[in-house]
Amino acid sequence: GNKPWQKHNLLGGGNQTLALTVCSAAIGGTFQYGYNISIINAPTSYVQRFINDTYMERWGVGLETPQLTLAWTIIVSAFSLGGLLGALLAGPMAVRFGRKKSLLLNNSFLLVGAVLVLTCKMAKSFEMIILARFLVGINSGVSMNVQPMYFGESAPTHLRGAVAFSSAVFTAFGIFLGQVVGLTELLGSEPLWTYLLASNSVPGIIQLLTLPWFPESPRYLLIDRGDREACARALGRFRGGEAPVLEMEEMLREQQQQHLVTLNSKSSAKTPWDLFKDRGLRSQLKTVMAASSAMMLCGNDSIYFYASYIFLEAGIPPNKIQYATIGTGASEFTASILSNFLIERAGRRYLLIGGYSLMSCWSVVFTVALILQGRGVAGMPYLSMACVFAYILSFGLARPAAYMVAGSFMWMSLFSVGMLFPFIVNGLGNFCFLPFLVVCLVAALFLGFTLPETRGKTLAEITEEFDRKNKHVERPHKETDEPSEEQYELGKACSFTSLTQDPDLDNKNRN
Ligand SMILES: *[C@@H]1O[C@H](CO)[C@@H](O)[C@H](O)[C@H]1NC(C)=O
Repeated sequence: GNKPWQKHNLLGGGNQTLALTVCSAAIGGTFQYGYNISIINAPTSYVQRFINDTYMERWGVGLETPQLTLAWTIIVSAFSLGGLLGALLAGPMAVRFGRKKSLLLNNSFLLVGAVLVLTCKMAKSFEMIILARFLVGINSGVSMNVQPMYFGESAPTHLRGAVAFSSAVFTAFGIFLGQVVGLTELLGSEPLWTYLLASNSVPGIIQLLTLPWFPESPRYLLIDRGDREACARALGRFRGGEAPVLEMEEMLREQQQQHLVTLNSKSSAKTPWDLFKDRGLRSQLKTVMAASSAMMLCGNDSIYFYASYIFLEAGIPPNKIQYATIGTGASEFTASILSNFLIERAGRRYLLIGGYSLMSCWSVVFTVALILQGRGVAGMPYLSMACVFAYILSFGLARPAAYMVAGSFMWMSLFSVGMLFPFIVNGLGNFCFLPFLVVCLVAALFLGFTLPETRGKTLAEITEEFDRKNKHVERPHKETDEPSEEQYELGKACSFTSLTQDPDLDNKNRN
């Protein structure tokens, strides 16, 4: 079949508009997520000093180290709490304002956050930083949900995989760029930290200036707004030239089927809890939830929050830590590119399970290196550093396969790890990676037992495989490939994952 680079060539023919739209949307979307988790690491000590100073001035007493660490984890984790709220807001916003306008409106959170950060020194209030990070979190939560929706609905079927892949690459690019901007030579110095934290408004402004020129999601225009003409115009621009009438008819047909499904089922309101109560779907939802929680509980994204804590523990000289930090972003970026090629060959199942297994190995080596370093064995800090890089690289290979951008679980897990991480590193010392080792092992085993390979399978086949793997009570076998209620719900369950973004899968379903 197709070589991945052919399949993922977004620049061919009439796809230029699509490629530019993807860039414009992603720069305010998953790019922002990456950028905001990595810029917070550089100003750690400056902000802590600022908190201590303002506290001293207000109350006349200074703060102890544990209290200061707690204040810092609250600032860092306010981002995840905001993300959780944003993830909940995203759905209603996307329906009310449309995909494109939601993304544009979303930037207002970012701009208010930037104003708060820029004025916090003058106002002598560290609470404003907490609020600002909360608002930035809302921005990420909204965009990480709306962006895949916008992409998925705008891309032609055969390019959906490529578009999902772009989300991971933009995340990695955001992480890396945030670390570079956070260098002491750039914005990472004591007098400039407020500008560093406010610099996330620059991509936001770029999006505000560029995205209005691109079309709204054709599917939203047709299905939610009922505007055939606008849909045809948008499709025409995304596909280049004439609007394919066929594609519009297909959208309408899909909608009718979904409508029928809703009418036929007695409980038409499908809350996540309804999905969970269905025995057949429960195992799938559990897998999705496990995969999306493991993605954050394994600590990968918290390493970016607290990179300097890790490298200090590993014994890297303080003046070199910022360069080691950039190495983590570079690892993530390399992995995001590599994974695109691997996913074609190995499939999601093996990439996910293999990724978590490798991460388990690296955390063992990391622990051993920390112990040996305590005994004075030379060169151990660099082995530890290499382990952190390898850990991130292994995770990055599996990230697109685990990209459950929609889950509130992701944000809750990120919040809990974000609150605990520095305490884990300080408290457990040499053994600080053991909790993450447990998470990786459990994730690898759980996914190994429950997750079927999805490559080239229809939703019906995936459901069957799930049932077989989870030894469910025999359900009446469905002969047809027509979307039955279960399959429709499975589609919903899977749309939290990238299972349905498999281009082969989509093609098969349509035939
Ligand atoms: C906070 O400031 C006070 C007074 O300047 C100082 O004694 C104390 O060590 C500082 N706390 C930390 C954790 O640095």
